Amino acid sequence: MSDFDLTDPEPQSDAELVFEGALRPQSLGEFVGQTKVRGQLELLLRAAALQGRTADHILLAGPPGLGKTTLAMIVAHESQKPLRMSSGPAIQHAGDLAAVLSSLVPGEVLFIDEIHRMARSAEEMLYLAMEDFRIDIMVGKGQGATSVPLDLAPFTLVGATTRSGLLPNPLRDRFGFTAHLEFYDAPELEQVLQRAARMLNFPIDDNALAEIAGRCRGTPRIANRLLRRVRDYVLVHRADADMASVRAALNLYDVDELGLDRLDRAVMEILLTRFGGGPVGLNTLAVSVGEEAETVESVVEPFLVRIGLITRTPRGRMATPEAFAHFGVAYTQGSLLPDVL
Ligand SMILES: Nc1ncnc2c1ncn2[C@@H]1O[C@H](COP(=O)(O)OP(=O)(O)OP(=O)(O)O)[C@@H](O)[C@H]1O
Ligand SMILES: [Mg+2]
Repeated sequence: MSDFDLTDPEPQSDAELVFEGALRPQSLGEFVGQTKVRGQLELLLRAAALQGRTADHILLAGPPGLGKTTLAMIVAHESQKPLRMSSGPAIQHAGDLAAVLSSLVPGEVLFIDEIHRMARSAEEMLYLAMEDFRIDIMVGKGQGATSVPLDLAPFTLVGATTRSGLLPNPLRDRFGFTAHLEFYDAPELEQVLQRAARMLNFPIDDNALAEIAGRCRGTPRIANRLLRRVRDYVLVHRADADMASVRAALNLYDVDELGLDRLDRAVMEILLTRFGGGPVGLNTLAVSVGEEAETVESVVEPFLVRIGLITRTPRGRMATPEAFAHFGVAYTQGSLLPDVL
């Protein structure tokens, strides 16, 4: 895959992170979609404010690019408290976590991104901190080591994870509330895009925005990224910001009407034409498109399964009738070739 992948839900560069920062909604009111989660968070924050206490710890779970970091910032903003940002990979020892926890000010919101990647030793310290706002610090080494309790300022932990299944149960249980973020539907993505276009001072037709919304895989991060490419196109070609420009720009970058990119299409075309729609084994499929099985399984397939082009069966991957229709291949049932190389 190329270094800069337009349909990858992970951020692609530092410049993109800066661009995202500028577009982040600041309050729950500005945050588009996720109606359920928004309502739940609002209630939780208001109850805490009425009682003059810190809000319960919050776990934000969901795929990349759906707004976890944005919501963490909103929690701090809405509670009018400072925000401390950290991440699982930055906490490799219990000491790293102790340094952060012991320097929090009362009411501070501590955001730990990718919390599933935190060191085990730190996890245990976090249990006590979340429950009792207290940690035990080890002083000295070997036989003479003693543990000294340290009281912490009350804080709200906001954890984010793309892999909530990897969190140990004791950690998961200590969150007062878990928000499961869902992929966005087309009208919500259009709202995300309208807002971004306004903030970028980029007037663009509503039907052009609808076309982008259809191609961004249910993910606001991808929506904003595609919008930026369309803006580039309009600027360079002095074109109108309309449907034709959207199509031209996104075709140039190989993002089709369903949001499939080149690798997605390669996998589908091979599955449909060479293997008659399957079933075919993952390894065979991966070798046929010249990719690692791991990439096909974790990057390509989830989206193809989600939009109903592929099903996973015990005998291998199969194309659905919708896939045959989308690619204009005559429907055949079952495999034309054995599913081994
Ligand atoms: N509900 C939303 N309304 C408007 N914009 C949004 C919304 N959710 C996300 N965005 C935009 O999408 C971008 C990515 O969101 P964010 O960084 O919060 O995702 P994330 O879930 O933290 O992703 P990751 O798992 O990669 O950390 C942000 O720049 C933000 O502007
Ligand atoms: Mg994030």
